[in-house]
Amino acid sequence: MQEEKLLIVKNLCTSFQTPEGVVRSVDGVSFDVERGETLALVGESGCGKTVTSLSLIGLLADTATVTADVMRFDGKDLLTLDREQRRLVRGSGISMIFQEPMTSLNPVYRIDRQIGEVFTCHHPGMSRKEVHERSVEMLRKVGVPNPEERLKVYPHQLSGGLRQRVMIAIALAAGAPLVIADEPTTALDVTIQAQILQLLRELQQGSGMSIILITHDFGVVSQLAQRVAVMYAGKIVEEGSVEDIFRDPQHPYTQLLILSIPGIKVKRGGRLESISGAVPNPLRFPSGCRFHPRCPYAMEICRQKAPPEIEKDGRRVSCFLRGGEHAE
Ligand SMILES: Nc1ncnc2c1ncn2[C@@H]1O[C@H](COP(=O)(O)OP(=O)(O)OP(=O)(O)O)[C@@H](O)[C@H]1O
Ligand code: SF4
Ligand SMILES: [Mg+2]
Repeated sequence: MQEEKLLIVKNLCTSFQTPEGVVRSVDGVSFDVERGETLALVGESGCGKTVTSLSLIGLLADTATVTADVMRFDGKDLLTLDREQRRLVRGSGISMIFQEPMTSLNPVYRIDRQIGEVFTCHHPGMSRKEVHERSVEMLRKVGVPNPEERLKVYPHQLSGGLRQRVMIAIALAAGAPLVIADEPTTALDVTIQAQILQLLRELQQGSGMSIILITHDFGVVSQLAQRVAVMYAGKIVEEGSVEDIFRDPQHPYTQLLILSIPGIKVKRGGRLESISGAVPNPLRFPSGCRFHPRCPYAMEICRQKAPPEIEKDGRRVSCFLRGGEHAE
């Protein structure tokens, strides 16, 4: 029997042992992903987006400790899987597309070997001819021109946009039902960015896969996602449908992120609005609401207590402005 949701994460906490102390990068994060949907995970650099996704696939340094109340993928409990079972989930269940293709493409192997490995790993009996045919087909699917030729080259011989397409091909070759795209277009110029987003949209429509789209760019969110979770300092501070969040962002941090989208020009003193202050260091998170040092609406209680999570009408937000009676 199929579980209704593809991924269920409750109270995920990931910390690292460092010489300066324990860094609690992800601190009580909960979210679900429905089959076929795209959930965007948005937030500034260092808020814990990548660590959240690496926690799901178990690809973190040995210094990391991951705990959760629930972490279920496709009916499987990710928390109790052994190394080998996790490796299998990583290959055929959850694939990852990284920001910088050169970090995940192996520079010393030709493209044919790297994409072919995915097929032989999941179908050990597949003939070389079939591996070749499937590889060509996959490159064609992601819009790589002359795929036969491109299979014979090394990653550095391709442009940035083509490398990203090859990486998407490798990520999708296993047919995983969940793809995590971590800043898939940040390193690319604007035109190529739009093409890659369009490609992901088409591939998703064709396959029914789910996507977790990680980005610090709210502009990208509206192009691909149906739902968005906004992260700040290791926590999800607001979550809802893309429509609701754009129409009526409720958390002050979300409001500021949306105001800082280029094109939404809110000028103050002749300058484009941006979020002042810096993302806090996870070794020294502020007391109470972690956003309080940067929040234009901060009140005394915000410095003292963490705001409760208010859930209403299919969205949730953690801010005293939206309710606080449960905080007492
Ligand atoms: N191996 C590690 N050891 C110690 N701290 C780490 C480790 N990996 C990540 N962190 C810290 O965890 C926090 C969250 O990092 P993460 O990479 O998830 O941020 P991010 O939201 O993906 O940022 P970006 O947008 O820059 O990619 C950061 O403060 C980072 O320094
Ligand atoms: S809880 Fe307070 S500091 Fe935090 S976002 Fe809301 S108003 Fe601002
Ligand atoms: Mg990251």
